[in-house]
Amino acid sequence: MKKIAWQAGTYVCRAYAKINTYLEVLGQREDGYHELCSHMQLITLCDTLETRIKLMPIAGEKTNTDDGPTITLQSDHPTLSCGEDNLILRAARLFFETVGLKNDHKIEIEFYLHKKIPMQGGLAGGSADAAAVLLSLNKLCGEPFALNDLCSMGVLLGADVPFCIRGRHGAQTATGIGEVMTPAAGISPNVTLLVALPGTAVSTPAAFRWLDERYCAEPIAARKREHQARYRRHLAALDTQDFRCLEQTSWNRFEEAVFSLQPQTKRVFDAVRMLGADMTRMSGSGPTIIGYFFDEERASTAQRLLQQDGIVSYLCHPLEKADE
Ligand code: C5P
Repeated sequence: MKKIAWQAGTYVCRAYAKINTYLEVLGQREDGYHELCSHMQLITLCDTLETRIKLMPIAGEKTNTDDGPTITLQSDHPTLSCGEDNLILRAARLFFETVGLKNDHKIEIEFYLHKKIPMQGGLAGGSADAAAVLLSLNKLCGEPFALNDLCSMGVLLGADVPFCIRGRHGAQTATGIGEVMTPAAGISPNVTLLVALPGTAVSTPAAFRWLDERYCAEPIAARKREHQARYRRHLAALDTQDFRCLEQTSWNRFEEAVFSLQPQTKRVFDAVRMLGADMTRMSGSGPTIIGYFFDEERASTAQRLLQQDGIVSYLCHPLEKADE
C-alpha cells in the first residue's frame, strides 16, 4: 500500500456527462454483466466537484492515523442522497483503501458537488462524479496513480467510470462490460446537442432484463456479425464526419426496451426528430434523448418548442478533450 503525506489544499474538477452514438448488447456473462460495444464521448454538460483537504492537529499523544480520513459530502441538489451510498463517498473510501496516510495530523476531506447532469438518465452522471473523485484525490496527493490504476479502481464502482476517466482524452470505443477502451474519432464540437429529458425512469437492470427476455431464443452469432459490419461503417463515418452515414449506422439496442417500457420516451424521441435534429438517439440505457444539430439556431428553436410542451432540455456540445 502506498503511504502518502497529505498537504492541505483544494481542487476543483469538472465531471462531464457522456453520450453514446452507438450501443449494442452482445450477450450476458456468467457474473450477470453484459458484453457491450459502444461508442462513447463526453459532452460539455457537467457537474462540478470541489474537494477540500484539511489537516487538523491531533490533540494529546500522537496516534495512528491509519484509520482513514473523515469524509463529508454536500450538494446543491435537493434530492441527491449525501449518505454513504453516494458514489462520491464510495469512490473516496475505495481510494483510501488503496493509499495509506503518513500524516501525524487528522485529515478531513470535504466534497461539494454542484449537480447539473440529470440523474438516472443514461448520461453516466454518477460515474462522472466518481471519476472526478479519483482524479481529484490523485491530483491532491501528487499523482501516485497512473490513469490505468484509476480505471481499475473505477470499474469496481460502475461500468462507466473507466470511460469517464479515459474519455477526458477523447472519444472511445468501449467493449467488455464497458471497461476496455480503444480511442476513436468523436463527433465534432461544432455540432449542437439538445439533451432532452422525457421525465420517465427505467432502471438499467430492468432494461437489460427486457432485452434478455426478448432475445433469449435468438443466436448471438448473427447479431455479432451484423454489429461488426455496422460498427465498422459507423467508425468510418466518424473518421470522415460523414453525417449521413453516421445517422444510418448510429444505433442503440436499449431504445426498443425503453420505448416499450416507457412510451413517453419514444414520444420525446419523435418530437426531437420532428423538430429538425440531423440525428436523434437515446443515450445509454436511457431515457435521455439526444438531438444532434448542425445548426445551433435550429437547436435553440427546438429547445423553445420542447419547453412549450413541458419537456426540460439542455443545449451543449461534444467535448474533444477536457482541459485538466
Ligand atoms: O455498473 P453500473 O452501475 O453502471 O451498472 C448498473 C447495472 O447494470 C449492473 O448492476 C448490471 O445489472 C447492469 N449492467 C450489465 N452489464 C453491463 C453494465 C451494467 O448487466 N455491461
